Amino acid sequence: MSSRCDLVLSDVTLPGGRVADVSIREGLVQHTGAPLPAEQVIPCRGLVVLPGAVDIHVHFRGGIQREKEDWESGSMSALAGGATVVVDQPNTIPPLTTPEAFRDRVSEAGRMSLCSFAINAGVAQGTDFVALWQKGAAAFGEIFAAPSSYGEALSPHTLSSALSAIGRLGAPATIHAEKAGPAQADDLAGHDLNRPADGEAETVREIAGAHGGFTRLHFCHLSAARSIAAAGSSSLEVTPHHLFLSVEQSIPDDTLRKVNPPIRSEKERRDLWHMWDRIDVIASDHAPHTLREKNVPFRDAPSGIPGVETMLPLLVARMKEGVFSPVSLMEKTSWRPSDLLGIPRAGFRPGERADFALYGEEIVPVSVDDLHSRAGWTPYEGFPAVFPSIVILGGTPAFREGEFFEAAPRWFPGRGYHP
Ligand code: DOR
Ligand code: ZN
Repeated sequence: MSSRCDLVLSDVTLPGGRVADVSIREGLVQHTGAPLPAEQVIPCRGLVVLPGAVDIHVHFRGGIQREKEDWESGSMSALAGGATVVVDQPNTIPPLTTPEAFRDRVSEAGRMSLCSFAINAGVAQGTDFVALWQKGAAAFGEIFAAPSSYGEALSPHTLSSALSAIGRLGAPATIHAEKAGPAQADDLAGHDLNRPADGEAETVREIAGAHGGFTRLHFCHLSAARSIAAAGSSSLEVTPHHLFLSVEQSIPDDTLRKVNPPIRSEKERRDLWHMWDRIDVIASDHAPHTLREKNVPFRDAPSGIPGVETMLPLLVARMKEGVFSPVSLMEKTSWRPSDLLGIPRAGFRPGERADFALYGEEIVPVSVDDLHSRAGWTPYEGFPAVFPSIVILGGTPAFREGEFFEAAPRWFPGRGYHP
């Protein structure tokens, strides 16, 4: 074995502002300070170096839905957007509610994914929670408290007994909290009224109140400040689409922006930004559908927006404008999600995971032509963004100037895993 380390990132601006060289060996940071002798050096002067993002909410589809996305296209999209770990959601067809389906999903991702991953297990009536937890589920859910695209709502009784069973295991439960009215809306404003922010907040309050003391709850994609306030001590995530898009800024019946929970008003969007410090995690809820599926009357269109590749680029552009600090971005997109998953953090200290994304100086308009999702569209066309030029996975450049290279993606099983 050579005594040299594998890679040095030179002149990295660390959280706090100090500039140092980060020496990497066997997938981990070995030393930060003066450089160690290395096989390869990547100069980082002038770049923003962030720990690889951990996007804890993606729908990478596959199977009969591979036209929308699969592990290969989804993971390319993740890497090209600076995310090195994703957590896949179990509302696949068929849903991931049996140990056999879970095991198959892990091997499918193992064969196809270019980025590291964890996988959540689904919840239905009769789910064997113990078996799924021991198979390596990262968490249970997203559990649907209201129906959504490819997600059936659980009855209040099934939901309640599921949350108790998950709590007894010490496993996390992730919740899609909403109340959906019976009406079918014909535009974004109607969709917002039909699945209102007040209903989301009420559902969060009910579930946190009934189960938060016993079960480790995580609320997915909260779309309004009052829902965040209702979460109490539970953890929660917010999406880029609720931070960047509003009804007023959209074409009234734009099906591409139809999503659950809905895009809200401009006022709600601004209020959401004011909750920045309380937001644990920014996650994309990457939910790709094809243009053909979206090009139908509003009431018939599936809900969901692709976003794993644009999440960090949109946020890095805002960070450069001084809207929030680099450290707060690292916390919400990498460290806090790692802690929630119970996986080692990526970062700059010795022993930390050597996953990094290197963002250039240039702010560019988002263009669908540059993106890798099979969905083939984005609601952020023209939005200012900073894309990574190099992404490092386990100490190896996995993405560089638009090209992908072989690295060693990992599966991170949950805490209950019995090999
Ligand atoms: O808009 C959504 N789309 N919300 C969800 O909860 C599910 C997702 C999907 O899988 O398409
Ligand atoms: Zn959801």
